[in-house]
Amino acid sequence: MKRLSAILAIVLISTGAFAQRNETLLREWTFNGTQKVRIPHDWAIAGPFASSFDLQNVAVVQNGETEASEKTGRTGGLPWMGKGVYECSVNIDGKAGSDWTLLFDGAMSHAKVYVNDAFAGEWPYGYNAFHFDITELLNDGANAIRVELENYPESSRWYPGAGLYRKVRLIETPKVHVPVWGVFITTPYVSRDEAVVSVSTEVDGLEENALVTFETVIFDASGREVARDTYSRKLWKGVPATQRFTIKNPALWSPDSPVLYTARTTVMTGAQMTTTNIGTWRNRYEITGGSDVADVVETRFGIRSIEFRPEKGFFLNGERTMFKGVCNHHDLGPLGAAVNRSALRRQLEILKDMGCNAIRTSHNMPAEELVELCDEMGFMLMVEPFDEWDAAKCRNGYHTIWDGWAEKDMVNMIRHFRNNPSVVMWSIGNEVPGQGDAHGAAVASWLSSICHREDPTRPTTCGMDQFDGVFDSGFIAAVDIPGFNYKPYRYLQARELLPQGFILGSETASTVSSRGVYNFPLSSGMNVRHPDHQSDSYDLEYCIWSNVPDDDFAADEDWPWMLGQFVWTGFDYLGEPTPYDTNDWPNHSSMFGIVDLAGLPKDRYWLYRSVWNETENTLHVLPHWTWPGREGQTTPVFVYTSYPSAELFINGVSQGRREFSNESNLTRYRLMWNDVAYQPGELKVVAYDKAGKVAEEKTVRTAGKPYALQCSVDRSVLTADGDDMAFVTVTVVDKAGNPVPTAANLVNISVSGAATFEAVANGDPTCLESFRQPAMHLFSGALCFIVRSGDAPGSATYTVSARGLKKYTGTINIE
Ligand code: GAL
Repeated sequence: MKRLSAILAIVLISTGAFAQRNETLLREWTFNGTQKVRIPHDWAIAGPFASSFDLQNVAVVQNGETEASEKTGRTGGLPWMGKGVYECSVNIDGKAGSDWTLLFDGAMSHAKVYVNDAFAGEWPYGYNAFHFDITELLNDGANAIRVELENYPESSRWYPGAGLYRKVRLIETPKVHVPVWGVFITTPYVSRDEAVVSVSTEVDGLEENALVTFETVIFDASGREVARDTYSRKLWKGVPATQRFTIKNPALWSPDSPVLYTARTTVMTGAQMTTTNIGTWRNRYEITGGSDVADVVETRFGIRSIEFRPEKGFFLNGERTMFKGVCNHHDLGPLGAAVNRSALRRQLEILKDMGCNAIRTSHNMPAEELVELCDEMGFMLMVEPFDEWDAAKCRNGYHTIWDGWAEKDMVNMIRHFRNNPSVVMWSIGNEVPGQGDAHGAAVASWLSSICHREDPTRPTTCGMDQFDGVFDSGFIAAVDIPGFNYKPYRYLQARELLPQGFILGSETASTVSSRGVYNFPLSSGMNVRHPDHQSDSYDLEYCIWSNVPDDDFAADEDWPWMLGQFVWTGFDYLGEPTPYDTNDWPNHSSMFGIVDLAGLPKDRYWLYRSVWNETENTLHVLPHWTWPGREGQTTPVFVYTSYPSAELFINGVSQGRREFSNESNLTRYRLMWNDVAYQPGELKVVAYDKAGKVAEEKTVRTAGKPYALQCSVDRSVLTADGDDMAFVTVTVVDKAGNPVPTAANLVNISVSGAATFEAVANGDPTCLESFRQPAMHLFSGALCFIVRSGDAPGSATYTVSARGLKKYTGTINIE
């Protein structure tokens, strides 16, 4: 029997009863000669932060800059540049008879892969998945795999991360096998009564014209067989065999009901064909199906239809659906770029509760884990490959590898994710230079045609920002869905000029805020900068190219041809600390997020929730009510709510009742009391329903002195797989139990037992404390730390302490 093991611990995954196909996750590696690491790994996230990392003297043209200036923190101020080498040992017992493929979900960046010192292949773009056939390079016995990486300065506009930050798998298959991404499932006809499912399968390792038998069985979400077909045919290399199925009463995939099916395809050899002459120019062909099982693959898919109708918008399964989407970069805050399923799931849970139903993977290929979770949890995805084509945004950006790689990158991206129901459109790029010239338009048309060739079922789009240019050059006509970045005030004009009949806000808002930070008098407008390097949480500050969320809500609501929007951004990310990117160190992360870098929602979260969450009510009041020294001074109060009206009380005295009005976009979506005089005590908001009845109340109280630490954990049970994570939010309360919103205590964290401390963040973009040390100051009264499960079951205890405060201890079970 064949055996495969790595010298260090390795998980062996088998795809089922047929032992020939084995996927082995290569988890344990040595980094730079000595350091033992478990991947996914980001070599730069532990820091330290420094302004000197990737210091740039540039003019950011797409932000309207014409003169170069020194940019600090543009890529996060972390040491991600330079070279890194990862090495892994794999023992193989019985190599012959199998094919061996090394599959990387992404490697940052310029990967060169060696097997037993022989060059196996390279892939420069750090975000894409790629694979090499390494059969010829492997030995029976010990094998050494080495991955050399190199990141160049000035190659990114945000923190790219560094290293083997996504999974690496060694896949053993029989000689005759389905290659990586060799199955393509589409649903050419979808209705509530029945759906047609088409399964196309490629097979490698065959003689030309070989006879192959395919048995494909479709299972529903409960594992029940719903369709089956067996079919034999001659197959040429690279030509897929297609089987079609009719599924009665299919369960359709949607964000509200993310139902998945699985197709299991068994490839068999040994079929026989006999040809009998039965008259002039007439033959009878008979095939006896083969039964020698070569390979078995399972592919998960969903049944859903997508249509973009002129004047009417986007329809999912025949139902008008708005994109209530966010753009996200790939980093996971204090975890850096190292992908983690639990961390992604937590992000999606937070977004789901906000009413968000879509994500744009800006501006690069997503992790496989994200796409799988979007399938399972119900999010629609715009998958986007590039921030740059052949013209530079960054000195060492993608344009340096464009020639020779652009098409390969597109093909891998599309083949990787074409079976995922969550993916509803391909973007071909973001705000690329050259949108206004003929060359740019030609490139757009070429990339769009690659998408259509590789996947005829999904439309293409692009994040366009050069409004006049794209009409001038014809670029706009190269994509199926015109996506505009930050142009709500020109949508009406665009609609007149556009052939497609609808518009997508491919990137919107770029409102900036820091969680829990308020300025008086009310601060609003473009490019507002404060001495503390924070942005204001009344949600009225934005960039010179952008606007407040209210303008995009109005556009989506007012015009029936709007497809919806993707807000910049769902979560804060490392790098791009606008408006503090010009010699404003320390600032290492963005302020665009609706949710901060620690995964803690800002006020804006409830503004979006009040408009987007159609099933649950929202009632949120801001600011906090602890303002010693501001007694009697004007302290505006905003309420973000789904109720039609609300009344505000301070210490029991009504400040008036407000309802939404069409006076301005702000009054359409916010209830505002701009002249409230601060008095310590109790701020209460009472919301009324349509009938004028009291529906809900919220009270915020002035906090006393910090007294005790408190924790809440998102999950109290983790899986003992070494990868599962729990997120613990730490806050401070006074003696009466009121949260202290301004607490900034230094908190020490300890985790013992069956789990370990992984990382911590407080959401403060100016904080330079390491994410990887178990101690950090609270920011606006909160922080969040991450606990990672061990490999063995047991109980884990975490304790947080701070000088002068009552400590808190909690437990998590690892099962
Ligand atoms: C856009 C760009 C994004 C981000 C954003 C910040 O123009 O596409 O990547 O830079 O601005 O507002």
